[in-house]
Parts: sequence; C-alpha cells; structure tokens
Amino acid sequence: MLLPAITERSVSFQVGELFYRPASRIIRDLGVLALAVYSAQRGSESESVRVLDAMSGSGVRSLRYLEEARAEFVHANDLMLNYGDHPLRRNLEPHLKAKRAVLTAQNAVDLYMEAHLSGERYDLVDCDAFGTGQPHTADAWWAVKHGGLLYLCATDSLATAGANPAKAYVGYGAVAKYMPACNEVGLRLLVGTSFREAAARGLHAQPLFAFFHRPSSSFRVMMRLRELKAPKSTLVERRLQHVARCAECGEHWRVPSTRLGEAHTLRRCEHTADASLAGPMWVGPIHDGEFVSDMAAEAARRGWAEAAELLGLMEAEASAQEGSGVGSGVGSRVGSGVGSGVGSGEGDAHGALLFYHLGEVQRSLAFAGLRLPPIDALIKMLHGGGYTAARSHTEKKANEPLSPICRTPFLPYPTDFILFLSLSLGAHHICKPRRNQHSRSSDCRRS
Ligand SMILES: C[S@@+](CC[C@H](N)C(=O)[O-])C[C@H]1O[C@@H](n2cnc3c(N)ncnc32)[C@H](O)[C@@H]1O
Ligand SMILES: [Zn+2]
Repeated sequence: MLLPAITERSVSFQVGELFYRPASRIIRDLGVLALAVYSAQRGSESESVRVLDAMSGSGVRSLRYLEEARAEFVHANDLMLNYGDHPLRRNLEPHLKAKRAVLTAQNAVDLYMEAHLSGERYDLVDCDAFGTGQPHTADAWWAVKHGGLLYLCATDSLATAGANPAKAYVGYGAVAKYMPACNEVGLRLLVGTSFREAAARGLHAQPLFAFFHRPSSSFRVMMRLRELKAPKSTLVERRLQHVARCAECGEHWRVPSTRLGEAHTLRRCEHTADASLAGPMWVGPIHDGEFVSDMAAEAARRGWAEAAELLGLMEAEASAQEGSGVGSGVGSRVGSGVGSGVGSGEGDAHGALLFYHLGEVQRSLAFAGLRLPPIDALIKMLHGGGYTAARSHTEKKANEPLSPICRTPFLPYPTDFILFLSLSLGAHHICKPRRNQHSRSSDCRRS
C-alpha cells in the first residue's frame, strides 16, 4: 500500500503500516548530530564512516545518517523486513543501488556477533530497542569500533521507577526504587548497565549524553567505546554506586557498594528517617560537556532550535554534575563547610547527583514562609552561594519549551540550600525543610 511520503528534516520516506512518531524526531536529531561531531573529530583522512542501524523500522535513521551525518555506508536491519509490505527496501532503494547501504532481516544480536567474528565493526551502532534495552545493551558492544558510538534505548520507565523490581534486576542488575527523580535514575541505570556490560567484555565505555524523551517515556543514551581494555577497578567503584534518598528531606547521597551496610551513616542530612536505596547505577556526569557543546554548535549551525536548546541544558547539567559550578565559575562548596560527601575525592564525586523537583523546593520554602523565586534567579542565587545548580532536561515538557515551571534545577544539599535561600531572601524564620507538611513539629527557630 503506497501512502503519501513523510518528510523529516532532509529525508522523505514511506512508513506503510509501521508506526511513525513525529515527536521522536529529536531522538533522531541527536543521533545525527552525534555522528556529525564524531565524523568531524575523525577528520577526512581516515576510513569511511560505517553505521549499523540494527532495528531500522522504516529506515528513517539510515536515511538521515547517510544524508545528514557524513555516513558513507549504512547496514540497515529489521527482523520483520520480509513480512508483509515492508517499506524499508523501497525507502533505501537509491542507496542500495549506489552500494552505500545493505539490507538484512536478521536478529540484531546475530549481527553483533558477526561483526565481532569478521572484525568489520561499525562507527555507530544504533539499537532502537524496547523494554530494558537488553540484550542489545550488552551484546551490541561486540559490533562497535574502537572510539565508536553506541546509541541505546530503553522504554520501561515503570520498571526503572520501581514498579517491577524483577524486571529492573534482570535488565540492569540493579534495585530500582521510586524517587521523584526516577527518570534520571532510569538514565543512570541504563548508562551504568552499558558501562558494566562493556567492562565485562574487557572494554572501557563512557557516556556522551543521556536523554529522557518524555513523549515516548524512553531513555536514550549515547555511549563511546573509549578503550579496548577494561576500566580500572577504582574507576568502576567510583562510577557505579548506589544512591540513597532521605524519606524526610529528600536529600540524595552516594553509597559505594563496599559500604552498603553503612548507608545510613553516610547520609548528608541530620535526619534519622528511612532512606530508600537504589542501584548500582552510574553516579558520574551523564553527559560529556565538550561533546554536547560541539553537538549544540552543530545544531545551531543547522538551525535545529529544539536540539540546540536541549543540548544547552545538557551542557549546563554536565557542568553541575562535574561539580565545577555553572556560569559563575564558582565551584561546589565542598571543603568550605558544607561537607565532604561520600566518594573518592574525584572531581565528579561531589557534583550534583539526582535533581530535586521544584515542587519539593517550593513546599520547603513555603513552610519557611518564602516564595519560590523565578528559576533563573534561584540558580543565580545558588551559584552565588557556591553551589552547583542547573536545570534538568529530564523534567522539561516537550510541548512547553519556554515554560520555566516545567524545568527543575539540580540542587545539591536540601537542608543547606534552604537555609542559604532563607538567608538570601531575608527570611524571619530559618526552618529545616520537612517533607511532611502536615507536621508542625519541624525544627524552626527565629533568626
Ligand atoms: C522502534 S522500531 C524502529 C523505529 C526506527 N528505528 C525509527 O526511528 O523510526 C523497532 C524495530 O525493531 C525491529 N526489531 C525488534 N526486535 C528485533 C531484533 N531482535 N532484531 C532486529 N530487529 C528487531 C522491529 O521489527 C521494529 O521494526
Ligand atoms: Zn534528611
């Protein structure tokens, strides 16, 4: 059945009876931009850029990598290619004739193994998978070239929010618990799993960006195969940790797996309430600041405003997560009285971890008789106080890109920052924040 062609960016294609979601264009934009930056970094001297689009569907990604990202060759694959009137062959026809593409209808996992056996690996492997992303998160590493990229997907945001512990345990080898920042937890579980699966294969991988796509509730992670040897055990211990959250004030803190039994003693707040413990997950920065900055410049050059804005947010997040401050050049307050935190003293150990919802911040401030300042003023105030803070891309509603209410800052230490904000705003009361706003027993004193 021939339906009118769909156009996305520079490519036109048929979808036939397949599902096409226009709102997912941003996911494909990010893939194209990452490959464009990767190709530019390699320069024109080296061998041609080869892509494996392991789960092609209509082939829109294959077309875009070929036409918009300097890919010389794409291997497009879909298990269902030979069923019904599949549009993939028709969509790629000119490229098949020009020998810039090949088509297969195999299980993607077999292709990863074939690439491993033949040694013909790819610069980019794109796995648009479902569920936890397994087994692709693990086995696709066999098909990635040294220095190459792996674009992963997981769609089970309920499991990563703790609704299906067995599924999370099988897919991520981790405990998932509900936390307000559960969508960032999902990204960190996927990055952590990918890093660990690479390490299990004697490979060292790192995240370039991690994106939660709200319209499809999916996690999109771009990894790079950094080295053909396993990461040092000290790095594994530093990057893969558990995360605890105080049930009373919402404070998060890192718990190394070697100190699991001491989770309570490592807490950064003074409360004694229960703490939920999730992980292990990736606790370092989820984006590579330089790489997303290059992607943002490329997006701006192409006039892709949505991607440029998103990548700008990611750049600020990366900076806050590295603990190097944002914009103001002020570092985190570690060593200046706020506390030394849990970790190894590495740069990323003290950066912002999971974000705090503005709603929670608002409630705590309201309890202290204060109103939430506009987001930009709030972040500026925190930077001025020596905190790392940035908006989180995870909570930004796709259909309201300019609404500040939809955005959430990373705020490092709730108790301290509420005290800090109270002082900055000239409050009469300084109150320790309480999650349970019905309780009047909060520790409140006159300033
Ligand atoms: C989400 S769709 C792909 C959408 C496409 N990448 C895009 O951006 O529009 C996933 C595709 O993967 C295919 N698929 C599912 N499991 C597979 C497997 N193990 N190996 C290869 N293809 C698979 C399905 O037939 C389906 O077409
Ligand atoms: Zn607490």
